[in-house]
Amino acid sequence: MASMVAEDEGEGKGPPRAIQDLLKEAGQERVVRFWGELSDGERRALCDQVESLKLGEVRGYLDAARESALRGEGQGAPEPVGADQVCSRSALSADKREEYVAEGLGLIAEGKVGVVLMAGGQGTRLGTKLPKGCVDLGLSDSRTLFRVQAERISRLQSLAASAKFGEGAEVRNPVMWYIMLSDATRVHTERYFRENSYFGLNESQVRMFNQGKLPCVTEQGEVLLESRGKVAEAPDGNGGIYEALLVSGCLQSMRERGVEYVDCYCVDNLLAKIADPLLVGYCSKFGADLGCRTLAKSSPNERVGVFVKSGGGGVGVVEYSELDPEMSARVANPTTGELYYNWSNICMQYYTVDFLERVCREGRAALGHHLAVKTIPTVDGEARGVKLEQFIFDVFHLATRSCLLEVRREEEFAPIKSEIESATAALAALEKKWAESGSTEDFHAWWYLLP
Ligand code: UD1
Repeated sequence: MASMVAEDEGEGKGPPRAIQDLLKEAGQERVVRFWGELSDGERRALCDQVESLKLGEVRGYLDAARESALRGEGQGAPEPVGADQVCSRSALSADKREEYVAEGLGLIAEGKVGVVLMAGGQGTRLGTKLPKGCVDLGLSDSRTLFRVQAERISRLQSLAASAKFGEGAEVRNPVMWYIMLSDATRVHTERYFRENSYFGLNESQVRMFNQGKLPCVTEQGEVLLESRGKVAEAPDGNGGIYEALLVSGCLQSMRERGVEYVDCYCVDNLLAKIADPLLVGYCSKFGADLGCRTLAKSSPNERVGVFVKSGGGGVGVVEYSELDPEMSARVANPTTGELYYNWSNICMQYYTVDFLERVCREGRAALGHHLAVKTIPTVDGEARGVKLEQFIFDVFHLATRSCLLEVRREEEFAPIKSEIESATAALAALEKKWAESGSTEDFHAWWYLLP
């Protein structure tokens, strides 16, 4: 690109022909309206950005998202999953539980289970510029979400090695940890891991990859400029994970390393029971290609997606931002107060790598885009604009055999969204329970193997 800028531009000349053509075709010529005021470096950077962003497709995404929303309205309310589609962890017999846990630990010890972390979100609700995973939680040992999660993975792989190869056995197959980041979180996260020596994990078991990004636009689809020489852009949503797993080579890495199952989770859940052996064992014995954790919604206003039925016995999710408030508040059982849309998505799911690969290669068309109207800082001051996002769960209906496992909120779900304290309080309550249990195990061993 640099050479093209040098060739085509000159005193008073516009952007390189190829860039002009690209912008014309996309109907986004105003992106270069400040060209005459930019330095050579700024011009080059802008050309690179224009080439890398999907400017030509963005209006189409916007139209398709609006059409799909209208279609959705026309189709009426989706049917929620029923209790018969949910298996409760608490309802499993002791024998079954032991069988699943042993299966899960065995698969982990053999290196067949990898974990994928979504940590590309910008954490704007928390009001910090730091990646959420790096924020000091105000606990002892300067714990952060990343540190806590690394400790869990470390402890889990040694528990699995002991279970499979004998007490105290060495970890033969470290659990691969694939971490999805974005431009907003990559540099800081990488540095944080390096400076902390990967929190005791092997550097080779941690693989970071970037998700894609999309330009921010006006409601009419015009691309917004953040500054005179820079398009306003944002990560493409956590549904960008499928494309990112493919293009980054992570999917291939899973294949090469013999990873057959993946547990995927959000960075913000302080109680994320990463690669829970019971869940892994349950899903693999059940022959599921997708297994989601769920729990009853705490109140109509809780900002969680809800599971709904999709054709053929499968599941889908309707996001909280897209569920009519009246529907959210609808009660199914006046005696218990149970909500009609009761089963929430805590955004932690198991996939077989076969299913993941099918989605990454052939299923991405099902994703579409969702629109979020936001205030976006632009070259002309703050503007009302649209961010386009893909949602990870929009492919769930493609699974041929999916299952939902009900987990306990107080043990597995404490997300950090706009504040930290409620999540740290939930962790403290759990640690207290462990201290009072008289267990001879350390906290993680106790927690991972709780009935
Ligand atoms: C998400 C779920 C919601 C669920 C809730 C549970 C989606 C679309 N929504 O909502 O159904 O009930 O969590 O807490 O999944 N992320 C990226 N890249 C992005 C955007 C997000 O990696 O471009 C990651 C975030 O870092 C985070 C996760 O995705 O780990 C969820 O994102 P967040 O914005 O917190 O989603 P919620 O709106 O809370």
